[in-house]
Amino acid sequence: MDKAKTATDVDLAQINEIVVENSQQKWALIPLVQKIQNEFGYIPPQSVLVIARAMGLFPSQVQGVISFYEQLYTEPRGKKIVRVCRGTACHVRGGKTILKLVKQHLGIEEGQTTPDMEYTLETVACIGVCALAPNMVVSNRVYGHLNPKRVEQLFRKGEG
Ligand code: FES
Repeated sequence: MDKAKTATDVDLAQINEIVVENSQQKWALIPLVQKIQNEFGYIPPQSVLVIARAMGLFPSQVQGVISFYEQLYTEPRGKKIVRVCRGTACHVRGGKTILKLVKQHLGIEEGQTTPDMEYTLETVACIGVCALAPNMVVSNRVYGHLNPKRVEQLFRKGEG
């Protein structure tokens, strides 16, 4: 996937193609929605009806599965996913300030995506590298021992 497509960019024929190829078995629902997400970066709302019809399910059943899994997204996401840790170790070492600064730099709140589709901001319970607290992850790269200056450098340089 090069760039997250907005709902209006989504090619319904392309959704149909993926659905037809993958709708032989009811158990294939999750792999199918994952394929759609891999293709578009999220699951376009208009794909729910197409999937439901092809698989003999109610749209609410398809929607229910999509809503159940946190890893499935119903809105376009940024090219870079910024995950700021809000775990205890990070919290006591200034994680709250780091989150506030990241929000200011990006101009978005948690769960939002910048209008240029560059960044999506999320928080996580623990990244698993508490010794480096406070931490954040940008596009799967961990940035530890963060402080306000480092956050500013990261986003100013476009490193993050
Ligand atoms: S609490 Fe932040 S990495 Fe563990």
